[in-house]
Amino acid sequence: MPTPMPHKLVTLQRHVIEQQARFPSATGDFTLMLLDLMTAAKLIAREVNKAGLAEVLGDAGHQNVQDELVMKLDEFAQDRIYKAMDHGGHLCCMASEESAELIPIPPEYPHGRYVLCFDPLDGSSNIDANVSIGTIFSVHRRKSTSGPGTLEDVLQVGNNIVCAGYVIYGPSTMLVYSTASGVSGFTLDPSIGEFCLSHEDIRTPERGKIYSANEGNAAYWGEADRAYIEHLKTPEKASGRPYSARYIGSLVADFHRNLLYGGVFLYPADRKDPKKPQGKLRLLYEAQPLAFIAEQAGGAASDGTQRILDIVPRTLHDRTPLCLGAKLDVQLYDDFVRRYGGR
Ligand code: AHG
Ligand code: MN
Ligand code: MN
Repeated sequence: MPTPMPHKLVTLQRHVIEQQARFPSATGDFTLMLLDLMTAAKLIAREVNKAGLAEVLGDAGHQNVQDELVMKLDEFAQDRIYKAMDHGGHLCCMASEESAELIPIPPEYPHGRYVLCFDPLDGSSNIDANVSIGTIFSVHRRKSTSGPGTLEDVLQVGNNIVCAGYVIYGPSTMLVYSTASGVSGFTLDPSIGEFCLSHEDIRTPERGKIYSANEGNAAYWGEADRAYIEHLKTPEKASGRPYSARYIGSLVADFHRNLLYGGVFLYPADRKDPKKPQGKLRLLYEAQPLAFIAEQAGGAASDGTQRILDIVPRTLHDRTPLCLGAKLDVQLYDDFVRRYGGR
């Protein structure tokens, strides 16, 4: 069911302020932090939109902590988010997919109450082909009481997230976010430089009609994963019609489409790379924030044995198998994992 266009013109700025006004104890700190992040998103959108012209395509000539090739735009996005967020006094530290260690707030700036985790540019291997990419983020309240943030502040269970969202740089730039009271989507109007409410209270269908998985890796998957995808493709099993296959290879874009149209995304544990037995996707920067959005929209997210939001991260770069999207489809995946005695 398409989400109706709202009749009133609401900027993201106004929306964030109105959301926060519901909490009488809110100081405005959180609102200002989100506005800083929005500025970084606009700078990244501007650069991505002219990428073919501005010599920002291509790789940066080295690999990151994930052993993946870093693209120039990965570095640009990382830098802009850092510079937008380091001095506002709202954060005590940050953590990013592109940084091996915790990112401290410089000592000359005040340390705040929140922690930001982010994937600066998701789907970056698609940049050079002009395919949609994105930024993913989550915000936690710090656990330590003062001073510089610590690992304890970052390694929090997804249930503690206070806000999460993503920006998708596609035919238009959209920002989708939730502060635990539903999910709202905003489209950037480049002529006025404002994100305007375009998707009010996004709800995802209970059951999807799309599956998104890199089936090229199926030889490395477990039995349960293969049987599950086979099930979705078999009309008699999948309630009379096979699911459509859609896989972009940018998690943000695959997730966003499935959120609106109804579908399930699967990146299972695989045996392709013995160094990454938990699959490819990162718990803190990809799985947790999108699991939060999915649940807020009426969907679900699981690693096959437990809710993604219940998993306690052990290190900054933990990976997790991820089944994400329509509630009934995710439940069915858990059933398959149980039936096959594990992943
Ligand atoms: P990133 O560009 O942040 O490293 O993320 C890439 C991820 C994700 O966006 C996507 O779903 C997945 O990698 C695709 O992996 P495969 O190429 O193995 O399918
Ligand atoms: Mn990513
Ligand atoms: Mn990335």
